[in-house]
Amino acid sequence: MSAAAKAKLFHAPDGVDVEQVPKHTLATGARIPVIGLGTFGSDAVSGETVAAAVRDAASVGYRHFDCASVYGNEHLIGPALRDIQASGINREELWVTSKLWNDMHAPRDVEASCEQSLKELQVDFLDLYLVHWPFPNFHPPHCDVSSRSPDARPYIHEEYMRTWRAMERLVERGLVKHIGTSNMTIPKLRLLLRDAEIKPVCNEMELHPHFQQQELFDFVRSSGLLPIGYCPLGSPGRPERDRTPEDTVDMEDPVIVAIARRLNVHPAAACLKWAIQRGQVPIPFSVKRSNYLANLKAATLPSLTLADMQAIAGITRNTRLVKGQVFLWKAGQSWEDLWDLNGEITS
Ligand SMILES: NC(=O)c1ccc[n+]([C@@H]2O[C@H](COP(=O)([O-])OP(=O)(O)OC[C@H]3O[C@@H](n4cnc5c(N)ncnc54)[C@H](OP(=O)(O)O)[C@@H]3O)[C@@H](O)[C@H]2O)c1
Repeated sequence: MSAAAKAKLFHAPDGVDVEQVPKHTLATGARIPVIGLGTFGSDAVSGETVAAAVRDAASVGYRHFDCASVYGNEHLIGPALRDIQASGINREELWVTSKLWNDMHAPRDVEASCEQSLKELQVDFLDLYLVHWPFPNFHPPHCDVSSRSPDARPYIHEEYMRTWRAMERLVERGLVKHIGTSNMTIPKLRLLLRDAEIKPVCNEMELHPHFQQQELFDFVRSSGLLPIGYCPLGSPGRPERDRTPEDTVDMEDPVIVAIARRLNVHPAAACLKWAIQRGQVPIPFSVKRSNYLANLKAATLPSLTLADMQAIAGITRNTRLVKGQVFLWKAGQSWEDLWDLNGEITS
């Protein structure tokens, strides 16, 4: 059977026509689908369940998967990616992202870590490899937000650049097509853009209607980087440790609910359509078929009106869900120190 015929058989009858899912074209000419599937099980969903969702998500039309070594499930997602390709979908049609974890920033560890992800994901190259956080701290999996690494350090640009040089070598070796950042701030990105030989193509950052990060979003875009938005639905399944009493619920916001009602879709779809139309790439996580299918369909909805976009622009607030407390490096600090809110890198 031809690859095209196999791919057609693999395609679920109620799935989305892959051609209908728009893509962004990067400076390299590569094309990234405007929506991807997140794969972080938030400590609550098993790797097997996430891998099963990846396998089936491809059959309903997903081609973009956001992975990371720290999610602990790449070895289970690998067989799913292999099956997807065996079904006739070419590797070139997929977009696979992985991320370098914080305890692997030493240049000698960068290559080993990337090779491990390649091996576990059973692919010859990654489309995108991100430095997951700009802080080189080790933390045990599932640790509490009050946990502090004894050798935690602030962002040190010279150290980050040593890591970045090793990331650049991965591109030169052909292991990785693109490199990017995650959880960066404007002053940190300014330094990286000044010093990088190979520029990041994206910054992966928290983005949802209640946390729009307009200034960083604008900086990322005006610097030619693609914003990839995590927690695009407000991460309702996030771990207990990432919940605070001040948190708000995007999908219950009256503006989102009203738009969703008018369009006859779930509020999740309204959040995702807004994200895509604004220009970020949302990577919603789901292991429920009806949900991940509806999320992909959101990419094919008609445009929101200007009034809808303006109304959603008006509901942003300071609801950062992933605060990053574990990266703090000295006593008496608060999580805001990690995010350089006054425009300077906190030392
Ligand atoms: N770079 C970073 O530092 C970083 C940080 C955090 C996350 N991420 C990435 O971003 C991805 C997404 O973030 P996230 O998982 O925290 O948050 P999210 O995508 O905003 O929310 C996921 C939650 O929403 C539910 N959901 C999904 N679709 C739904 C729908 N249509 N209707 C109702 N509920 C729905 C899911 O439950 P069901 O499974 O039941 O559908 C899951 O509990 C992660 O998986 C990871 O890949 C990256």
